[in-house]
Amino acid sequence: MNAATAVVKPADIWRDADAAKDFLDQAAAELAAAKEQLDAMLRVRPGSHVLDVGCGTGNDVRALAARVGPSGRVVGLDSSEQLIARGEPGGPDAAPVEFVLGEAGDLPFEDGTFDVVRSERVVQHVPDPAAAVAEMLRVVRPGGQVLVTDPDHGMWAPDLDDRELTRRIMTWWSDHVPNPWVARRLRDLFVRAGARDVAVTLQPVVLTSLAAADALTWIGKAAGAAEAQGVVPAGRAREWGQEILRRDAEGRFLMFGAFVVVTGNK
Ligand SMILES: C[S@@+](CC[C@H](N)C(=O)[O-])C[C@H]1O[C@@H](n2cnc3c(N)ncnc32)[C@H](O)[C@@H]1O
Repeated sequence: MNAATAVVKPADIWRDADAAKDFLDQAAAELAAAKEQLDAMLRVRPGSHVLDVGCGTGNDVRALAARVGPSGRVVGLDSSEQLIARGEPGGPDAAPVEFVLGEAGDLPFEDGTFDVVRSERVVQHVPDPAAAVAEMLRVVRPGGQVLVTDPDHGMWAPDLDDRELTRRIMTWWSDHVPNPWVARRLRDLFVRAGARDVAVTLQPVVLTSLAAADALTWIGKAAGAAEAQGVVPAGRAREWGQEILRRDAEGRFLMFGAFVVVTGNK
């Protein structure tokens, strides 16, 4: 592929801090109800010490800081220096928050440092998912809880006319993240890392606008990328992309999928 046809991978968005912050804020708005459910699953109390692995710009870190209060501690870790540089402190009655640069697969904390460790939409991106899950279990205290959630990128189902074309493009497109099927592997990774009481919950995600779907899946970029990379004939990829735009403009867009939430205790 030459420079003229090179495709900007959606993952490149993390290199532009402004674009990434807008993207994460939009996703957080779309996922507000799902995030509330996740919060309810966390065994967090006033005074808890909590780690958010892959915290981005820290939306969840701040929410947790308010929940654990001034006697608690909340740490957000991310591999992007630009993103954690956007991290802001919690409110006056919140726990002190710290933002730490680091790798999910090599957490810079002693064994048993935290009461609760959470990680949302991160393991799909990491180089070694098994190491990331094992590290989260290592840094939680005995009796503590780890929660990991990711979308399963093999489960996104858009309502589009051409089933064969949709199947081909979506199967190819699911590989735009490094670990597209890691969500369905999480239970195995928890068990192998020695977690107890491993539980799996599904959160359905129903997306009725292209903006919402883009915030979680970048599907708006799929047709152009499929065309540029010759995945399907150019004209057909374009028609497929136009159908998405038309359905969105006419209020007929629908795409759904699922987040897999896995919890385990140490
Ligand atoms: C989709 S965002 C999710 C951010 C945040 N958890 C949220 O729910 O808003 C993925 C985040 O994972 C971070 N990330 C990717 N690979 C990582 C790694 N190997 N170690 C730590 N963080 C990583 C990215 O920098 C980004 O902030």
